Amino acid sequence: MDHDPPDTYTVKAAVALAVRAPSVHNSQPWDWRFSGRTIELRADTNRRLWQADPEGRDLLISCGCVLHHFTVAAAALGWATHIDRLPEPDVLARIDLVPHEPREEDIALATAISRRRSDRRRYATRPLAAWEQNRLVRSATDHDAMLRFVTDAPRRSALTAAAVEAQGLHRADPGYGIELASWSGRRYAADGVPARNAVLATAAPLVRDFSDALLTDTEAQDGAALTVLATVEDTSLDRLRAGEAASAVVLTATRLNLASCLVTEPLELPSTRGLIRDCVVAEGAEPQLVVRIGHLPEGTPPLPATPRRPIAEVLRPLGHYGIGLPIPVQQRESRYPAGGAGRTVNPGSTS
Ligand SMILES: Cc1cc2nc3c(=O)[nH]c(=O)nc-3n(C[C@H](O)[C@H](O)[C@H](O)COP(=O)(O)O)c2cc1C
Repeated sequence: MDHDPPDTYTVKAAVALAVRAPSVHNSQPWDWRFSGRTIELRADTNRRLWQADPEGRDLLISCGCVLHHFTVAAAALGWATHIDRLPEPDVLARIDLVPHEPREEDIALATAISRRRSDRRRYATRPLAAWEQNRLVRSATDHDAMLRFVTDAPRRSALTAAAVEAQGLHRADPGYGIELASWSGRRYAADGVPARNAVLATAAPLVRDFSDALLTDTEAQDGAALTVLATVEDTSLDRLRAGEAASAVVLTATRLNLASCLVTEPLELPSTRGLIRDCVVAEGAEPQLVVRIGHLPEGTPPLPATPRRPIAEVLRPLGHYGIGLPIPVQQRESRYPAGGAGRTVNPGSTS
């Protein structure tokens, strides 16, 4: 490489924008390290949700979301990203930064980062245009995932049935309830789901039972388009890629002035996940997330942004583990067996 690396301020600015990414329960389970032109992303497994996410799927998807947000932020700041996914045990992505001339599209997508919200309110009944659907589908395909619009009545009712069943099973699970209550109903915390961003889940199967929900709906019916984001297989790499694709879908939706919300509750239990796999997605693909997308009702006020942890907590120099200790041997063992080649170059193509 015959170019200077980005300065620390640029890396910090890109990570600061990247951490606006959605994450399950706003747990922000990521750990960034950097040195020179190399940035590494790891999962912060201390932030894993053992009740809602025993397999660690949502953890990897959340890290995929922040990885994609990083590439978008870096591109707008003039750096293309060469990504090696799962290059070694515990490292989810190793990213090299290469100078790049920002395009209009890079700036527009980066601008969407700070406007995007997980909007759990009911959407207007105005349908999405075909070209909007195509743009959303393409944003997922670009990241090795499929976005399926669930339009016909049998598949919509199978999805709703799976969501109702998952809600019921979760309501009967005290461990899940305690964990959810501890991560929601927040007012001043730097993580978790704030009370002001949650709506009451009563009679709404695709809304999680977050504590102390303060948001109210204006619509009697939800007009959201329901989509399922799926991958061909279900390896760690697929889950990471699903997160990248989900991030691309919600940023594209924001660019199109559409509201969106990622939903994984019905995919967190094997039985309801199987129902969605067999009756909604079919084609043998693995469902990773449900995404609600649509127009907000006329005059709906925008939602406040959810909080994030300070950058100093999530970005540290490479070569440090935790508070400067060497990486313990047991932590070096692979938690994420790689599922295949995971190299990409975004958005430039200099190598
Ligand atoms: C893997 C994943 C799973 C999620 N599952 C749900 C869900 O089931 N229900 C929901 O309302 N929000 C869900 N979300 C959205 C998060 O709660 C949201 O991103 C987080 O609270 C931060 O808020 P923000 O997206 O508005 O910045 C999920 C997000 C991710 C990345």
